[in-house]
Amino acid sequence: MSRIVKSSPESFAEAVKILRAGGLVALPTETVYGLAADARNDEAVAKIFKAKGRPSHNPLIVHIFDPADLGKWAEANEMAKSLAKVFWPGPLTLVLPKVTDELSAIAGANLSTLAIRCPENKWSKAFKELGFNGPIVMPSANRSGHISPTRAQHVADDLGDQVDLIIDGGECDNGIESTILKIEKDRAVLLRPGVIPVEDFVPYISDLRLPEKAAQTSAPGMLKSHYAPKARVRLNAMERRSGEAYLAFGHTEVIADMNLSASADLAEAARNLYAALRSLDKVEVIAVAPIPPHGMGAAINDRLRRAAADRD
Ligand code: TXA
Ligand code: MG
Repeated sequence: MSRIVKSSPESFAEAVKILRAGGLVALPTETVYGLAADARNDEAVAKIFKAKGRPSHNPLIVHIFDPADLGKWAEANEMAKSLAKVFWPGPLTLVLPKVTDELSAIAGANLSTLAIRCPENKWSKAFKELGFNGPIVMPSANRSGHISPTRAQHVADDLGDQVDLIIDGGECDNGIESTILKIEKDRAVLLRPGVIPVEDFVPYISDLRLPEKAAQTSAPGMLKSHYAPKARVRLNAMERRSGEAYLAFGHTEVIADMNLSASADLAEAARNLYAALRSLDKVEVIAVAPIPPHGMGAAINDRLRRAAADRD
């Protein structure tokens, strides 16, 4: 099995050694745990696709350790620069034209754009002090199509011995993935709802669009069925039927197996969502209470719809 070690200066030094040697390290971020490899190393990047069982046409997000590095890898217009200034380090991914072929072509699935983010975390400062400035590529550290990991043990459960080292930073602060925006000249398209609700972008983006149905493949990873437990998921459930597990939200009269947030706090619900789905995944059907659509509720509902979608 993969080794899980507590987040510490020693474990960060070991992580850098492994990344430099072309290995894979699972790292905690403010969103979910990621599976990291050196973004310049084709062999290391290929290991990520293999470990996750990820289709090669689904590109990876490049993670930088310093917002100032944005322009090295992508063409950032004024809008992109101001978004990076306000939201980085943090849970925002920008899709922009790429400007160099220095990064692994496998990672980018041969697209002319690059998804890039600067995460908030405890390790990148240590990595830089050790002379390793990235960038790294880092998809969520789960089997492709399964629920993203928000704890170190989730990574070990999904990826077994395919990771050289798992850094345990405890529970992730936000619990769902970054918001992805594609910047197209003076407009932005929401490719994936995430931790930062679209409402928060209003002051910075005059033309913010939701993707049209036909264009939804422009985030190649946004497959209809994703984030899925083995159990079927029943949405907007007001009652618990026989044989179901019930996942509540807020005050409820239903006898619940778990509650995403007894106080109906959407940030708390997001933080608990994936761990709850993983731990209830022993029944045939998980029935989930309605979740309000505003704020972080948009991303929670997006993930639940995909967890509930028909599988091929
Ligand atoms: O919060 C996060 O973003 C986490 C943490 C670990 O940083 N990472 C993450 O990566 O969610 P992943 O690989 O699980 O999801 C990345 C999504 C995929 O749906 C992928 O298709 C999309 O980003 N993506 C990557 N490059 C893209 C590009 N050039 N254009 C459009 N979508 C892209
Ligand atoms: Mg993922």
